[in-house]
Amino acid sequence: MKLALAITGASGIRLSMRFIENLPSSIDLYVCASKNAEIVSLCEEKKAKLYDNADIAAAISSGSFGVDATAIIPCSMNSLAKIACGIADTLPTRIAAVALKERKPLLLAPREMPLSTIALENMHKLSSMGVVISSPTMAYYSEADTLEKMEDFLIGKWYDTLGIQHQLYQRWSDNNHKEHP
Ligand SMILES: Cc1cc2nc3c(=O)[nH]c(=O)nc-3n(C[C@H](O)[C@H](O)[C@H](O)COP(=O)(O)O)c2cc1C
Repeated sequence: MKLALAITGASGIRLSMRFIENLPSSIDLYVCASKNAEIVSLCEEKKAKLYDNADIAAAISSGSFGVDATAIIPCSMNSLAKIACGIADTLPTRIAAVALKERKPLLLAPREMPLSTIALENMHKLSSMGVVISSPTMAYYSEADTLEKMEDFLIGKWYDTLGIQHQLYQRWSDNNHKEHP
């Protein structure tokens, strides 16, 4: 699978880094983010291709490159608004526009609190086009007792949406007699 991942300027960059860390090596990963030493070294380790935020001529900016799925983690309200309006002036917003025009899976993880009516309207608009809006929302039923385990749960849920196999969290089953999800 060719997976394009964009990292935008919302709080939660650690989540995108752990998303990259846990990816199986069978995924061809293409990352765009503003220059950040930690992301660069992580991409080298994972053999991911790293593009600059402004590299509009990158391979993943063309529909003909054939990206299978696109994720923006975390997604700022700024990038969310641009994507909802069809603005594609950065590589993250361009790869989202490509996913929309090619009718390919697009996952956005918007991070903001509280949410403005504008942000909610943008999410509603994109959701009605088939975009998966999947904010990093804590689930207490997962019984994660550390920040890492809570992050594993969030990343596992994103992998589920993208069809990536993982064992990052324990799935709810009939054997659980706890608070219902
Ligand atoms: C420390 C810091 C944390 C931020 N956290 C968020 C956030 O959680 N969500 C958000 O939408 N914007 C957040 N912002 C604001 C965005 O970075 C800003 O709107 C920026 O223009 C987004 O640009 P981009 O969408 O091109 O990445 C934060 C900014 C700073 C400096």
